[in-house]
Amino acid sequence: MKFFVDTADVEEIRDLAATGLVDGITTNPSLIAKSGRDFFEVITEICGLVAGPVSAEVAATDHATMLAEGRVLAALAPNVCVKVPLTPDGLKTCKALTDDGHQVNVTLCFSAAQALLAAKAGATFISPFVGRLDDIGVDGLQLIADIVEIYDAYPNLSTEVLVASVRNAAHVVESAKLGAHVATLPPATLRAMYKHPLTDKGLEAFLADWAKTGQTILKPTSSGGANAESKRRSA
Ligand code: E4P
Repeated sequence: MKFFVDTADVEEIRDLAATGLVDGITTNPSLIAKSGRDFFEVITEICGLVAGPVSAEVAATDHATMLAEGRVLAALAPNVCVKVPLTPDGLKTCKALTDDGHQVNVTLCFSAAQALLAAKAGATFISPFVGRLDDIGVDGLQLIADIVEIYDAYPNLSTEVLVASVRNAAHVVESAKLGAHVATLPPATLRAMYKHPLTDKGLEAFLADWAKTGQTILKPTSSGGANAESKRRSA
């Protein structure tokens, strides 16, 4: 499963990209507004930090303007993935942009029927919003299961399921079990995935026991200790 990070915060992206676990980035107009930065500048900067797809969303709602905006965004960097909303005009724009060879992420998907239309429009990614469905009492993960099942039944559909509106690690794990291709995670959710109390407790105990041995793995180099140690070991 690929991990995208759902943020327009460049410092967060820089930090998380250094883990080697980040395959792409998603932004939306709300995240751009939250960053307080110029849209073009921030997308260009993010594209330089991450090799994978960086979703940048159009602002228009009519096909002609969406297409023009999409082409401007796609020209910013080779890894820009133009994000369009799941509307008739959005899908028409998706078809035109993918026919031109651009990557397109169709966003604001809340039903399997919508996901089927997006795949037929040639979307690179479909973004079903799991958390926002859960928020209204609808099982968001069931939507992921339905879309994966439908797409799997038609191997000619190349659209990848990009699980969006992720609220917790369980959303990621369950989506992975269902075979979703990608999850886009808020930075805090990605960081939370590292954590388990037994990891912390176990590490604490191992460190305490290691300290009792009085040994070190790396020897100080300033006193020539490392050389002396490696000679002793190879003798
Ligand atoms: C990603 O592409 C979506 O815009 C994002 O996951 C939405 O998340 P939210 O429902 O937490 O705003």
